[in-house]
Amino acid sequence: MTDGARDAAEAGEGADAPDLLRLEGVTQRFGAIEALRGVSFAMRAGEVVALLGDNGAGKSTLVKIISGGLQPTSGRLVFEGRERHFASPADAKAAGIETVYQDLSLCTNVDVVANFFMGRELTRKVLGIPVLREREMYRITEQALAAGGTRIPSLRTTVEHLSGGQRQAIELNRFVHWGGRLVLLDEPFAALGVEQTRRGLEMIKRVAAQGIGVVVITHIMAQAFQVADRIVTLRQGRIVGDVATRDTNADEVVRLMTGDAGMEQARAG
Ligand SMILES: Nc1ncnc2c1ncn2[C@@H]1O[C@H](COP(=O)(O)OP(=O)(O)OP(=O)(O)O)[C@@H](O)[C@H]1O
Ligand SMILES: [Mg+2]
Repeated sequence: MTDGARDAAEAGEGADAPDLLRLEGVTQRFGAIEALRGVSFAMRAGEVVALLGDNGAGKSTLVKIISGGLQPTSGRLVFEGRERHFASPADAKAAGIETVYQDLSLCTNVDVVANFFMGRELTRKVLGIPVLREREMYRITEQALAAGGTRIPSLRTTVEHLSGGQRQAIELNRFVHWGGRLVLLDEPFAALGVEQTRRGLEMIKRVAAQGIGVVVITHIMAQAFQVADRIVTLRQGRIVGDVATRDTNADEVVRLMTGDAGMEQARAG
């Protein structure tokens, strides 16, 4: 039994569900720097995992490995029961794994519908010439956003006029609509206001409730405790804590993040 399955059994939820993602002994070196040292961790579909750790702990490196942006120096990545070697983010995306950024993957000069269907446009042939099925794409976008609880006043607005939170919502809903399985969010609320952050956290829960795995990196402890089922803590490239959110607290996580000596410092900061 894996640790993830044991946790699930103890929690009485999805005990028989296989892991969505499993990392085994993942190491990442950048020259002399060992950004990750033997990281092993597993998560199930529908689970929200918060990845915590001090600056430089290796969080972004781990997320990049999972989403194909980096190829680990050593170790195994097993996704949906199969060992994978993602050569690029496009490769991981094809498998259903994607990092959602606030705006980086949207085209700001076209509207919401065009972004939702980017690269997947619906067309029909008129006199042999492909013509966009605009009305159908509009309707599908509208339904998908509504299903995700996202309200955008006009889907004909170009994305440059939307807020960071709205852009994030479009990306997440698009990810879910096109069959995404595991979404990674690296500091998703860094540039968002209070209300948009609250909506973002709610959206994460809704996405997970649809059976999608979510890994979220945040420096804000309260956000992690609000949204995550499990808290995984990294320190200097190692996992030093992996526990159900209800079985831990902020003090304990800070202690793990910093080591005992750093605790008072971290609290003061
Ligand atoms: N492309 C790279 N080349 C060299 N070193 C790197 C590279 N990417 C990350 N590192 C180093 O690896 C370590 C882990 O970095 P990483 O960005 O994963 O940390 P992090 O936990 O995301 O930190 P932060 O909270 O500041 O974002 C750091 O020492 C960093 O300097
Ligand atoms: Mg980072």
